[in-house]
Parts: sequence; structure tokens; C-alpha cells
Amino acid sequence: MRNVRRILLALAFTLATLAHAQGATIDCVTDAPATITFMGDPVGNAAEIERETVAAFNEACPHITVTIVSGPASASDLLANYLTMLEGQSGDIDVMRVDVIWPGILAENLVDLMPYFSDEELAAHFPGFIQNNIIGDKMAAIAFRLGAGMLYYRTDLLERYGFDGPPATWDELEGMARTIQEGERAEGNADFWGFVWQGNNYEGLTTNALEWQVSEGGGSIVSPAGDVEVANDATIRAFERAAGWVGTISPPGVVGYVEDDARGVWHAGNAAFMRNWPYAYSISFDSEAIGDVFDVAALPAGASGTSAAAMGGWSIGVNRYSANVDAAVAFAKYFASYDEQKRRAIRSSINPTIAALYQDADVIEAVPFFAGLDSVFMGATPRPSTVTGTRYNRVSTLYSTAVHSILTGGEDAETALTLLELDLESLLGN
Ligand code: GLC
Repeated sequence: MRNVRRILLALAFTLATLAHAQGATIDCVTDAPATITFMGDPVGNAAEIERETVAAFNEACPHITVTIVSGPASASDLLANYLTMLEGQSGDIDVMRVDVIWPGILAENLVDLMPYFSDEELAAHFPGFIQNNIIGDKMAAIAFRLGAGMLYYRTDLLERYGFDGPPATWDELEGMARTIQEGERAEGNADFWGFVWQGNNYEGLTTNALEWQVSEGGGSIVSPAGDVEVANDATIRAFERAAGWVGTISPPGVVGYVEDDARGVWHAGNAAFMRNWPYAYSISFDSEAIGDVFDVAALPAGASGTSAAAMGGWSIGVNRYSANVDAAVAFAKYFASYDEQKRRAIRSSINPTIAALYQDADVIEAVPFFAGLDSVFMGATPRPSTVTGTRYNRVSTLYSTAVHSILTGGEDAETALTLLELDLESLLGN
């Protein structure tokens, strides 16, 4: 049923886009022929959507050739690629995807996009996502998606094992995951696991661990005022609990998982619960195993009594070493436009940064959780990238490395967090 609905939606979307495209104007910025390169996203169905984006852009701006080079799946690896490229003042990649936590790190190497946008165009976006890209007097990038951590769950399995709804707390999640896993294995599915998430040592682990920590009441790594918040009982408890999942309700290999690894297990029908970003929603309908039997909810709460979702998101910027800045800006502008955010919302369940799209009937119909989980998105917890600025990546690496050593049993939580607190204090000069 859901697949039929998807096909109808895709058709409705195509017709709506065609109708809209007739009236829409695409700003090519330059008439000069140019070839530009964009480092694409390999996660979920993003690569397919990006090819559609380029084709639509070329309808209006055929003189600008866009070459897509597939980037790495891990945000941390992507940043490392960029930093190596920029260190050599290379313009090899003209158009860059910029994670919500990177404007402070990358701004000096990105073109100021402010002159290319009208006030009206900027006012269409959520102000916080525009503000986040303004570093000094420069707008380093333009937002094209936002996101937050969410819980995916199997409706069929909850019902089969007698649970009324998704877990409200981490303790409940543990209990349900264990019951379902035992039951499914007893039925002969030896590959079945209770809960999959992102445990590799990279930026994704920072977001998962931040959710465990904040929901337990342990603070948010570095407070907005600059105070380090990691060595405390709540955070120790939160990370010990997560370490206990590894090899019990979560596969031992979870400590090597990035987003699409978790999604692969889920997609194959081998997980009861998954922590992931919104992108995993629409592509899950394509799964033979679970396409009709899943839903999403807020992540469970910890001892603080509330749940926490890490705030994610991406913008698009132009490399200041690009040989074709105007052509690159034209593509970046199109990428972040209403039409493209709508395409990504419907085809990839990617939350837009343009407020009006949340009132768009096609979008609401394709992605009902945008409205249903409104409070999750609006109340998401940012990582401390504003307060730590250019040092954010070192903060995050120290944090994810400490968490990873707890998860893999290298260090106990108390020792790892005490050392982490000292490292962060000295990095931040407190
Ligand atoms: C998602 C988020 C991004 C985050 C990354 C971590 O792509 O949108 O903000 O840094 O996941 O893996």
C-alpha cells in the first residue's frame, strides 16, 4: 500500500514540479560557459537526487556543466578532504556541502554569498540557519537541509510482542529490544538485533553520544557560556548504559557503523529500533522487508525526564579558490532553492530550511512526520560549534574518541570522561 502511495506521490510531485518550473526563474548568475565540480553525498538516495538536481539546473543554465564527484559517507572524512584541499589552495571542488557545525572552520575559505541573495530570498529560510552561516560580516554558505536524531521502530514487531507504542525511556528501549531480539532469534533469524545506531569514531558518534548525555541531564559537552560539561555522574551513567548495548542488543560491529551501516541492517529487516536522521525515512519504504511496517518517534528520554535530539543540517558554499565562482554560486543557489528543497523533502524526506515548505500540501502528505515530530526538530540540541568556533572539530574528535574508548571497553567511563574534561579544558584555554 505504502509503495503505491509513494508512486502516486512521485507522480504528483513530477506534475507539480513541471507546473512550478514554468513559472520559476533560475538565476544562472553568469552567461559564461563553465565546468564546475561538486562533491556529492553518497548517503541514502542522495546521489540519485543530486543527478536530478543537476539535470533540472541544466534546463535553465545549459552552459554550466556540473560534474559530481562522490564524497565520503562520513562527515568527518569529508571535512578532512576539504581541509587538505584548502590547505593547498585548490579549487578542485567548486561547490561544497557544509555541515551545520563547520561554518566557523571553513568560512575563511568560502565565498561571501550575501551579495547574491535578496533579503526576501534569505527571509524565506529559518533565521537560525541563516545566522549560523554568518561568520563576521560574511555569509559563508546557504542552508539547504536540517535534521535531528530520531527513533525508527518496527510497528509489526511491537505489536507481535505486545508493546503499545515506541519506548519512552532508554530503559524501556533496552527491555523491548531484548525481548524482540530473543523472540526473533528463537524464530530462526540469527542476524536480528534490537537496536542499531552510529558508533564509529567520527562526527556521527558525537551526535549519538550528545543525545545520550543530554537526555540523562549531563550537559552538552561545552555550554553556550564556554564551560566544559562532560565529567559528571549523569554522563558516566549514560555512556555506561550505551557501552552495555554493544554486543547485547546492538551488534558488536556497531562501534564501526556510520549512518548507512545502521540503515542497511534496518532495511534488511534485521533491527527492531534504529537511531538515524530523517533521510532514512522515505528510502525505508523501498525495503521489501519493512516498507509497510515501520514508523518514527522522538528518541527515548533518560534520567532528565526528556529526550534529546542532536541538531543536524547542511548548507552549500563556494570554494574561494574556484576558477568559476559565479557559475558555482548559480548552482549553490539553485541547490538551496524552494524547488530543490521540495524535491529533496518528497523524494528523500530531507527537512527543508525554507519555512513555507512545511505548509506545502505535497510535502506534508509525503512526509507526515515533519508535522508530527515538529517539537523534535524545533527543540533539537545544537553541538557546541558556535562557542568553540574554529576549534570545534578538535573538541568533537576528543569527545568521540573518548566515547568510542568507553564503548569498546578501552577505558571505563569515569576515567575517560575525567581525562576528556582535562583535554577540553586545555584545548579551550579554560
Ligand atoms: C548528518 C547531520 C550532520 C552531522 C552528521 C554526522 O549528516 O545532518 O549535521 O554532522 O550527520 O554524521
